[in-house]
Formats: sequence, structure tokens, C-alpha cells
Amino acid sequence: MKVLIVMSTPNASGLTAACAESARQGVVDSRSRARVVNLNELSVARCAVCGDGWGTCRKQHECQVKDDFQELHRTVREAEGYVFVTPVYFGEPSEPFKAFFDRLRRCEATRDPSSGERGALTGKPAVCVAAAGGSGHGAVRCLECMERTLHRLGAEVLDLIPVTQRTREYQLETVHDAQAVLTETRAAPATRPETEARRGGRKPRRRRRR
Ligand SMILES: Cc1cc2nc3c(=O)[nH]c(=O)nc-3n(C[C@H](O)[C@H](O)[C@H](O)COP(=O)(O)O)c2cc1C
Repeated sequence: MKVLIVMSTPNASGLTAACAESARQGVVDSRSRARVVNLNELSVARCAVCGDGWGTCRKQHECQVKDDFQELHRTVREAEGYVFVTPVYFGEPSEPFKAFFDRLRRCEATRDPSSGERGALTGKPAVCVAAAGGSGHGAVRCLECMERTLHRLGAEVLDLIPVTQRTREYQLETVHDAQAVLTETRAAPATRPETEARRGGRKPRRRRRR
């Protein structure tokens, strides 16, 4: 399975980066492919609210604000599972995450299933991780916010994991181990690759992090 890990942090040795690395290791240990993207290293502007409120997102499902979002959107479409890792800022996902989620929602939540259109994340498994400070205040609210967006996008949210400095040690294991469940959760049939469907899917081996 191709798993996309989207994270957002300016701190290479911070808690968010550690969570993303645990997720990556968990995916690899489950014998799946992981790709990690740090939104802070990309240029993804906020939604420009084009026209009278809608731009090309509504009918063409493409954002007309040209920056790194287009390439990222392609990567999202190609992925078969997701891990979203954000720091908790003011009880919410980080600003780069909000910009990314806002634009993705406009492009993907506007698809019409009655016309055979299917959202990029529809039926695909996702795990959300919120890396908070010492207090952990707002971590659950942050995760709720991510869950709401992902439900709107039709993703199958498997777990919501709050991590603080105090819970770091055991929660990094949780983040790692959650990937075994994610990689064995196949997307709903319409997005399932045909060869995998015929084989009945590959069962990954669970392995705990050392
Ligand atoms: C602008 C800002 C707002 C923050 N708000 C919260 C918060 O509401 N709750 C909390 O527990 N931690 C909060 N924190 C702490 C971060 O969530 C925490 O330090 C997190 O580990 C940062 O991720 P990093 O290690 O990748 O930098 C805030 C930090 C910043 C910079």
C-alpha cells in the first residue's frame, strides 16, 4: 500500500517530526511504502475564495491558485492511505495544515457521487496525530477538527492520536503500531487496485517498535 504521511513543522527534531518518523517506520515495518511531506517546506497559500465564492474547485476539482498544492493534490490522489501529523496551535491544526485542508476540501468534497465522481480520499483509511505541548490543551479539539474535514472528504478515519511531551514515549509506539492497522485496511472496492482485489490483499506482519 502507498501511504502518504503529511506533516507540518518547522522543527526537525521536535515532537511532530518524531511522530511522523514513528508513523513512517510503522508503515515500512508493515511492508508498505511511505512518503513523507512536510507542509512547512512547501508553498501552499490559503484559499483565495475566487469568483463569487467558487473557482475551478467546484466543477473541475482543481485549485486555480498555482503553487505547490497542485503537485501535492496529485500525490494525495495517488496515495492509498494517509497519516496526518500536526502540531497543536491554539487548539487547532497548524496554519499550513488548515490552508492545505481548506483547499483539498474545496476540490474533493465537491465531487458528485451520483455522476460516478469519487473523491480522492473516499473510502481510504487515515490516521490523525496531534503533537501538543506540555499541557496538551486543545489536542482533542485539534483532532476533532481534522476528523471533521476528513469525514467531509469521505476518508475512513481509523484513529485520532494525541501526543504530548509527557505521553511521548508510549504514544510514539501507538503511532507506530497504528500503521499495521492502516496498511491492512483496504480502500472501498471502487478505489481498490484490481490486481490487489483479485489477490485478496496482502496481510502485513505486525511488529512492535523497539
Ligand atoms: C503558536 C503556538 C500555539 C500553541 N498552542 C498550543 C495549544 O493550544 N496546546 C498545546 O498543548 N500546545 C500548544 N503549543 C505547543 C505545541 O503544540 C508543541 O510545542 C508541539 O510539540 C510543537 O510541535 P514541534 O515539536 O513540531 O514544534 C503551541 C505552540 C505554538 C508555537
